[in-house]
Amino acid sequence: MHPVAAAFPILQQPVYADKRLAYLDSAATTQKPQAVINALTNYYMAKNANIHRGVHYLSQVATEAFEAVRQKVQRLINAAEVEECVFVKGTTEAINLVASSFGDLMVMPGDEILISALEHHSNIVPWQLLCQRKAAVLRVIPMQQDGSLDISNIDALLGPKTKLLAVSHVSNALGTRLPIEMLIAKAREKGIPVLIDGAQAIAHIAVDVQALDCDFYVFSSHKMYGPTGVGVLYAKRAWLEKMPPYQGGGDMISSVTFEKTVYNDIPYKFEAGTPAIGEVIGLGAAIDFLQHLSLPAVHAAEQTLLQYAIDALKTVPGVNLIGESFPKVGVLSFVMSGVHPHDIGTILDTQGVAIRTGHHCAMPIMDFYHIAGTARLSLGVYNTEQDIMQCVNALNEVNKVFKGRVG
Ligand code: ALA
Repeated sequence: MHPVAAAFPILQQPVYADKRLAYLDSAATTQKPQAVINALTNYYMAKNANIHRGVHYLSQVATEAFEAVRQKVQRLINAAEVEECVFVKGTTEAINLVASSFGDLMVMPGDEILISALEHHSNIVPWQLLCQRKAAVLRVIPMQQDGSLDISNIDALLGPKTKLLAVSHVSNALGTRLPIEMLIAKAREKGIPVLIDGAQAIAHIAVDVQALDCDFYVFSSHKMYGPTGVGVLYAKRAWLEKMPPYQGGGDMISSVTFEKTVYNDIPYKFEAGTPAIGEVIGLGAAIDFLQHLSLPAVHAAEQTLLQYAIDALKTVPGVNLIGESFPKVGVLSFVMSGVHPHDIGTILDTQGVAIRTGHHCAMPIMDFYHIAGTARLSLGVYNTEQDIMQCVNALNEVNKVFKGRVG
């Protein structure tokens, strides 16, 4: 077995009793290495207690382990200060937090929020809700047939009323890497803050939030080999100081009377209630795992396998790749003439190949291509040429089942 794949217990068991698993759905969620599973188990076996509250031994041990992960997050993304890293439930909550809190503070009737045509629903709907609340306007950077953004009109789209630019680092549906460095520079020139949805980038590209100079960068643990239920909102200190709390409750206060509450310092002001302590500690193990592999090395290996996958898929009669523009990360969307994507996914599943099919929570992209959905193969650190060939063989099975179809 591939040495990286060997670190993932789930990949060592067959599916349907005797089928080798080719897990090609890491954009939906990654599998977890033994080190992450051990960190979770060890937390519940040896450290479980509530944090920031207790004077007792276990509470101090748990608090130290939890806060140590904040420092790992800071180093992972090169945040200037550890206080700029807020733990949230995931990317979706992070975006909703900013839409609610930044939105309340900054957005007035007639103002504009600019997103792109390549967004996941989680970077569309929170802004629509904000725009409805504030009588603001949602504007969209269009896309092109090859799956890249059409930035020809970007200077006009970043107008005097734009209060925030919120775009993905990488499209979850197509894998397209957006030109965020250029977009951030354009927004900066006009003093417009920028949020980057890094959900599909954080496990694939080395991220440096200071070099990017974005105001917000958000991501989920479960797409970077960590547990579900936890993610990170990075925000510049000045915003976290200025923005009102998103939720009220324990831990986010420094004093409460019935007349008045004084909020806690950042980041705790945004961390109401007991957080996902064990999961944060698991995220710490995932960061260690990724950094041990080294993100530049992960990226390079993935690009090689991506090219292999593109070449291999092109050998299958009837397969059409959707959104082929580069740069992209290890995500390939495709359709097969005359076969519904769900049928592709179902037949692949019988061959032990796990992919995602459908609209991928990015319905506007499907509308752009006038399709109901795609089949999507997405790569993780454990994938090999053997997984790709298993997928290609299964796609040839699809062709056998649908022999004689009208394409
Ligand atoms: N956002 C995840 C995906 O793209 C669930 O599959």
